[in-house]
Amino acid sequence: MKVGIIGLGFVGLSFASVLGSKNYSTLGFDSDKKKSSQIKNGKPPFYEPYLEETLNQALRKGLEITDNIATMVKSCQLIFVTVGTPQGNDGSIDLSMVKSAVEEIGKHLKYSKNKPIIVIKSTVVPGTALDVLLPILVSKSRKKPGKDFGLITNPEFLRESMAISDTVNPHAIVLGGTKDRFMNAIKKFYENLHKNTPIIATNNQTAEMIKYTNNSFLATKISFINQISNICQLIPGANVEDVARTIGLDPRIGHLFLNAGPGYGGSCLPKDVAAIINFSNSLGINPLLLNAVKQVNDYQLKHVILTIKRAAGTLKKKRITVLGLAFKPDTDDIRDSVSIKLIQSLLKQGAKIIVHDPKAIENTKNIFKEKISYAESLDDALRKSQCCVIITPWKEYSKINERHLQLMEKRIIVDTRRILNNSKLKMNYYPIGIG
Ligand code: UGA
Repeated sequence: MKVGIIGLGFVGLSFASVLGSKNYSTLGFDSDKKKSSQIKNGKPPFYEPYLEETLNQALRKGLEITDNIATMVKSCQLIFVTVGTPQGNDGSIDLSMVKSAVEEIGKHLKYSKNKPIIVIKSTVVPGTALDVLLPILVSKSRKKPGKDFGLITNPEFLRESMAISDTVNPHAIVLGGTKDRFMNAIKKFYENLHKNTPIIATNNQTAEMIKYTNNSFLATKISFINQISNICQLIPGANVEDVARTIGLDPRIGHLFLNAGPGYGGSCLPKDVAAIINFSNSLGINPLLLNAVKQVNDYQLKHVILTIKRAAGTLKKKRITVLGLAFKPDTDDIRDSVSIKLIQSLLKQGAKIIVHDPKAIENTKNIFKEKISYAESLDDALRKSQCCVIITPWKEYSKINERHLQLMEKRIIVDTRRILNNSKLKMNYYPIGIG
């Protein structure tokens, strides 16, 4: 079975690399020519653990990068659409890339005898496949759905920083569509690819809803624990770590996604919570809980800033070190990263900012240019610092020691992830979630 993948971002490139490395005959396409030629040469355009090795293996085996969608539509039995669906100004999702990908497929399908399955992996609000994408496919191709092509919704659950292992071992495969031969064919494809993964077959709109439910539930867990964390911080001696660890032992709750911190960021949770809120409103439903999840998350940045002020006093001209720029460790992705918003706010209040991150400095330079200082080492980041704020829990920050502290002008540490909580360091320590 030949597979085509349109859109080579985190999801598409990971999927293309894993399939190609497993000898599946795979064609990858990205409309960004620069990105696509980089990928052709075995260089991923972003940092993701194990991606480069997997991509290079794939290029030696089954993966080919093409700039020709027509060939893909003619030759592939499965065509995955993995383009981005960014956030519009009102929180709604911007479907322009997914629409234009489907339009291209439709245009070439018109002149092809091939009967492919078009698989939407991009995150789209319920109704999109049937009400928006199917009409485009039909009008551009003049072909019949269910006869000449299939349209399947197949949301993706991979996490950045774990993209390769999540692609190799997903916890579930969701297939939304009509019960027909196309559905059977894609089921077989996945049964063959992942021997022990549960496959849930449902209709398109339910599959679309599953993706939003999944991400908004994860966001809810984080906002919940952040709310509890802020309460703990005001109770002398109370510790959110012990609270989270203990409630996590209750199998009805589970221990994952209960790490209190500066709020969730990244290219998915904030965007998907905003989109489901916007979508609910459009249905005439006031999503009280989801609104609260978002509000708690927006507040969390203010909470961190209040803690910094309590720790360091007035911010004007203060030398503040921000450790961690990526929205989580093991990525260089700074999209919707709390650190970026924090720096913007601290700059407004007149602070002087020095930043450090093992991977995300280059991306951050594109935003702040000369407005802040970029440290190449932890030593440089902490030298003469009057307050250090730990945002992203990169492993190396848990190794901060007495020697590092001696470099600081004032030993004030605001630790939003409590990674130094068990150290015996002499410092003025302000952990989020510990009273
Ligand atoms: C998220 C979901 O976890 C994936 O399942 C999903 O496929 C993906 O979005 C997507 O829709 O594409 P990702 O954005 O890579 O994945 O990152 P997460 O690991 O979910 O972390 C998101 C944010 O929540 C980060 O800022 C992280 O620091 C924060 N977080 C996470 C916490 O503050 N506490 C936690 O306990 C967990």
